[in-house]
Amino acid sequence: MEPYLGHRKALERRLPDGLILLSGGTMLTRNHDVDFVFRQKSHFLYLTGVEEPGCHLLIDPKRRRHTLFIPRIDNHHRVWLGHVPGPQEARRLFGIDRVAYTDELPAALRRAKAGYRKTYLDAISASRHKQALRGVAAAPALLEDALQELRACKTPGELALLKQSNAVSGQAHREVMRSVRPGQYEFEAQAVFEAACLRRGFRHLGYPSIVATGTNGAVLHYHRNAAKIKDGDLLLIDAGAELKGYTADITRTFPANGRFTRRQRDIYSIVLAAQKSCIARSRPGIVSADLHLHSMTVIAEGLKDLGILRGDTAGLVEGGAVRLFYPHGLTHMLGLDVHDVTGGRKRRMPNPTKVPVRFVARLEPGFVITMEPGIYFIGALLQDPALRRKHRASVDFAKADGFLDFGGVRIEDDIVIRPGAPLNLTDVPKEIADVEEACRR
Ligand code: GLY
Ligand code: MN
Ligand code: MN
Repeated sequence: MEPYLGHRKALERRLPDGLILLSGGTMLTRNHDVDFVFRQKSHFLYLTGVEEPGCHLLIDPKRRRHTLFIPRIDNHHRVWLGHVPGPQEARRLFGIDRVAYTDELPAALRRAKAGYRKTYLDAISASRHKQALRGVAAAPALLEDALQELRACKTPGELALLKQSNAVSGQAHREVMRSVRPGQYEFEAQAVFEAACLRRGFRHLGYPSIVATGTNGAVLHYHRNAAKIKDGDLLLIDAGAELKGYTADITRTFPANGRFTRRQRDIYSIVLAAQKSCIARSRPGIVSADLHLHSMTVIAEGLKDLGILRGDTAGLVEGGAVRLFYPHGLTHMLGLDVHDVTGGRKRRMPNPTKVPVRFVARLEPGFVITMEPGIYFIGALLQDPALRRKHRASVDFAKADGFLDFGGVRIEDDIVIRPGAPLNLTDVPKEIADVEEACRR
């Protein structure tokens, strides 16, 4: 089921009084004759599904015309890059009625602007087509906002793509669990994950894979993936493949030798409890920041039970002591971008909690969000003299210092908000016994 026509019609309904013009991405040079791997702009993918560079989309709501403009390919291009669809083939391939060449766009704009006082267009189109669009006012911010608003709630076609990228990424995570052994390098686990996706035809990842063992697990966006995996280490892998731009975002943390130690079990169980409790509470109407606060509370209580934190739980959460061990958000939107649109101006709301949270939104059916609490022992925070002074009443630093070799645990699933209980798209073992089982060859 191709969702793109539905997306364009929704945009047309949202902005019926102006010509809509959106440019796709272009190739970027990496060096000399080498280009970066092309990744289409997300708004363009949302409206067209077209993964080719150099295209434009014109929507004329009054005449109900949607036109895709594609580059005119010359023989030189064919010699080096092979076949690129022409208009007739593109019409069929992309399910769009009208396809023309980009060199025809200025004339098309001059014709189409008759009857309009406004154009909704992106900044690049605005600067490129000033001449052709003379006489009609440009409203780039309104187009951006409309697309942010529409993209927040995923359509059935988008959910189908997200399900597929999650299923394949999940299989790849299982392969990593089964294959990793102490003595290998982090990049070998990365290779297993990425090969598992590639073998299934998933040629792109939604973000650079994080494969971190030992203390590297406490580096939130660790990408070096180059350390030797030691016996007794945990391995944290945060990786997801994308399909037509729709990405998974999954993290698992498991023992490299297949058996959790007592200490690893203790920390892991707190993170897992926080994650499961937040997933169970993820319903329409709930504010994401309240879920974040809840995850901090569960983690504070768990760390209190271990004697690492002490004192009143609300004070630990609001005073920031928990953030020494859990210094990132619980959740973000997921879709065409791994940190997806947050829903446009009309959904913006104040943070109802006393803790700093970046993503604040009232959950709605159709939102796809991540759930990713974590606990980390980060030297840069735990050994900072000012932070130690500030939190000395709340943190048993002697005890916390004993975990400085631990690294971190994060567990991340992707959740669809719907009436009633949410749908968890991620099917990768996370219960302790299941993880240990999945690590057996
Ligand atoms: N993979 C990036 C994140 O979890 O937000
Ligand atoms: Mn995430
Ligand atoms: Mn992630």
